[in-house]
Amino acid sequence: MTQNPLKIDRFHFKRVSEKEKRKVLNIVEPLERFVGEEGLMRFVDVVEGVDMATGMPIKFGKDGWKWQLDVLRTFYRERRLVVLKARQLGVTWLSAIYTLWKALVYPYTRTLIVSRNREQASMTLRNYIGELYRRLPKNLQIGTVAEQAFLLRFRNGSEILTQPSTEDAGRGFTGALAIMDEAAYQPYAELTYLSLKPAVDNGGQLIVLSTAKGVGNFFHRLWAEAVAGKNNFAYLFLPYHLHPNRDEAWREQQRREFPEEWMLAQEYPATVEEAFVMSGRPVFSPLTIDRLMREAKEPIVTPEELAALDPYIQVFQKPQENHFYIVGVDCAEGLIHGDLNAISVIDGITGEQVAEYASRVEAFVFADHIKAVADYYQAANVIVERNGIGAAVIAMLRRLQPTLRLYKPPTGRRRYTTHIVYGWQTTVKTKPLLISALQEGIAKGELKINSKALLDEMAHYQRNEDGSTAAAPGRTDDRLMATALAWYQVRELRNKREQLPVNYYYHAMEVDDVYGWMKEAIRVWEEERARNQLIRPVSEILA
Ligand SMILES: Nc1ncnc2c1ncn2[C@@H]1O[C@H](COP(=O)(O)OP(=O)(O)OP(=O)(O)O)[C@@H](O)[C@H]1O
Ligand SMILES: [Mg+2]
Repeated sequence: MTQNPLKIDRFHFKRVSEKEKRKVLNIVEPLERFVGEEGLMRFVDVVEGVDMATGMPIKFGKDGWKWQLDVLRTFYRERRLVVLKARQLGVTWLSAIYTLWKALVYPYTRTLIVSRNREQASMTLRNYIGELYRRLPKNLQIGTVAEQAFLLRFRNGSEILTQPSTEDAGRGFTGALAIMDEAAYQPYAELTYLSLKPAVDNGGQLIVLSTAKGVGNFFHRLWAEAVAGKNNFAYLFLPYHLHPNRDEAWREQQRREFPEEWMLAQEYPATVEEAFVMSGRPVFSPLTIDRLMREAKEPIVTPEELAALDPYIQVFQKPQENHFYIVGVDCAEGLIHGDLNAISVIDGITGEQVAEYASRVEAFVFADHIKAVADYYQAANVIVERNGIGAAVIAMLRRLQPTLRLYKPPTGRRRYTTHIVYGWQTTVKTKPLLISALQEGIAKGELKINSKALLDEMAHYQRNEDGSTAAAPGRTDDRLMATALAWYQVRELRNKREQLPVNYYYHAMEVDDVYGWMKEAIRVWEEERARNQLIRPVSEILA
């Protein structure tokens, strides 16, 4: 049987003798009037915090910020609660008050606060809970039997624990209340949640608090599922303007002070959307993505030539005369769960995305599909990322159709090259080129995206702390990479078109026999050899 912790029997968590009960009840006698929800409201009136910046006392309840009372009532009423908040609204104070109240008023309750790191965990206990306790009226200070860096044990048998977020934070915890503070910033939030779940399922209470940190992480998923009614969590959003000193003018001032748009949205959101979508350092402006989402074309009925690629393909525009097309290809590595084979086709003249493909088929099937798309779009140039399985897909493509116009990087002065390297190699150096080009194309409106799935990937594509970029946890970026490759080539070609023939960058082989690619390889090889005497003669190598 699960117990509602809010109407908990005071000795629910421990079997104690009548004598001990009497002793403990004597201790908690003065706290009698703080039992229940109205008791909590009375408790708020007697506690006092301290502003760590100024050393001034902080009043809560009637003499403080009144909305904080509603937050505490919500803490009291909801057994599972997720709170999305703006910065510096006193939420850590409120959780400290609630925890202390619970521990003092209800003997033998264990409570736990998990913080983002060690320092926060000890601070929560010492500077928040400890401070509240020391400032209580003397008759309410029931006495402690243990005061440690991460543990307070009271004479009534109650315990308050704080823990930093680690792999086993919360493991083995049983108790009446657990709070996760700044959950989006906890490195092991998901594990902690799983550790706490049994205690919660057993009648305990769980409150998950945080400022947003982009989408896709544990905190965002918990919130999204709460809103969708998929878990049993109630949810509460605390916007920036709850702070009495903050108004529109204040926010404008902040806007100027933050170097980037997303920072303001993350720290001081006005709406939930803003908090999640704009925080977490999005690479592509959320406002632009939002507009593109509304302007995106619906796919047309798949043309007969591509019917075999259903249901993986979406065609937005058939090939047009005198246009040229670039086909970008990202191959599924097959290692990470969820990654896709993706193709994106861009019209080189208009900059519009005309088709998109995404599947999880095997490499050899994917090669067939790439060929079909390239053929359909007027023998389009194809640029394949050659990392991982990409190299194998390229080899298959070349056997399938030796005349395919496959991207080959300019050889430059590369020495000792003994084979032709087709395809694009994504590295820490080349990736920023692709992503910045895509960013610019989107921002300037030169590139028009039609696929909603791609726009969704873009909305959840983020910059990491180290400056690199990646999909938010649990999101894909395969369509995005395919599009970035195609768009990069469109730009290169536009730049070079006036001066150089397309074949300067696009190596189209004029051979049609199956082994043509080999002859071609040998020809390039010979050329290299002529340039560089260090390379051994072909005949020697083949012998
Ligand atoms: N009732 C109140 N009256 C006056 N000031 C308050 C009140 N509640 C909170 N504050 C102010 O808010 C500050 C931040 O409190 P707290 O650390 O609990 O906020 P927080 O929402 O957890 O912030 P963060 O986002 O930094 O974690 C306090 O130091 C105090 O200055
Ligand atoms: Mg806090």
